[in-house]
Amino acid sequence: MNLLVIGRGGQVARALARRGDAANVGRPEFDLQRPEELAAEIARRRPSVVINAAAYTGVDKAEDEPDLAMAINGDAVGAIARASADVGAALLQVSTDYVFAGDKDAPYREDDPTGPTGQYGASKLRGEQLALAANTRAIVLRTSWVFDARGANFVRTMLRLAKTRDVISVVADQHGCPTFADDLADAALAIAASPKHAGVYHCAGAGETTWARFAEEIFAQSRARGGPAAEVKPITSAEFPTRAKRPGNSRLDCDKLAREYGVVMRPWREALGACLDDIAAAGWRLE
Ligand SMILES: NC(=O)c1ccc[n+]([C@@H]2O[C@H](COP(=O)([O-])OP(=O)(O)OC[C@H]3O[C@@H](n4cnc5c(N)ncnc54)[C@H](OP(=O)(O)O)[C@@H]3O)[C@@H](O)[C@H]2O)c1
Repeated sequence: MNLLVIGRGGQVARALARRGDAANVGRPEFDLQRPEELAAEIARRRPSVVINAAAYTGVDKAEDEPDLAMAINGDAVGAIARASADVGAALLQVSTDYVFAGDKDAPYREDDPTGPTGQYGASKLRGEQLALAANTRAIVLRTSWVFDARGANFVRTMLRLAKTRDVISVVADQHGCPTFADDLADAALAIAASPKHAGVYHCAGAGETTWARFAEEIFAQSRARGGPAAEVKPITSAEFPTRAKRPGNSRLDCDKLAREYGVVMRPWREALGACLDDIAAAGWRLE
């Protein structure tokens, strides 16, 4: 497999770089605001598989920069999909639970109607559509609540806050599936090794939780490793207003991935333990 990963410093891009021997391309040389340069690079390298792990990920900021979010998460993905199709490469496009409205009372399946509630979700949905339209070998891999030992994510934010606060208020009415970047990278690489089924797939940590219960588990497991911990005060989304509305339910049903690719994600609690081991090994440096 001649694998090209788009994205360099992001959580998922770095996890992919750590695990495989793929070439990673990204900023500053390759900017998704200039997708034609990336398309030329794909034509030059002639990869057999492209994984796009780069994206505009500022969920709230996207409300103020909808055109930029759409250019990076929508139009640029279309250009990558066309360029990869031109060299016969499969494309794994990483996408998000935020393409859903969040009003279903069960985990979302791949064929459930989409309905993003914000600009970020809308731009990612456009990217999915352009990828599938331009490359018959495109695989859209929707994931959710990504955490890692590095980067900006909920696990690190909670631990950092716990260093200075005894009690932390956390939203308790949003339900989802936390996903360890390493596990997502493993799943993506397993698919990339034999990308035989195109289409949309859900890929998230097994099990489900709320942000408040996720925080409680982070502190319980951190405390057990001698790390920072705090008390969690459950609050409602209404008590924690954000610029972009979050889906109340963004749990992803990952059965199709298991059925068609044999990829089964491990329980998120177990994955959290592995992530905290990494953070502990780095001396709980969270700044
Ligand atoms: N984080 C989550 O909770 C979550 C949830 C669901 C789905 N996802 C999806 O998972 C994928 C990976 O997310 P992540 O958590 O790894 O994101 P991240 O940590 O925010 O990293 C984003 C990556 O995109 C790159 N990027 C942003 N703008 C770019 C541009 N104009 N040109 C080139 N590269 C650019 C960044 O490059 P720099 O290193 O140069 O900044 C970085 O490598 C994305 O498709 C995201 O939509 C994430």
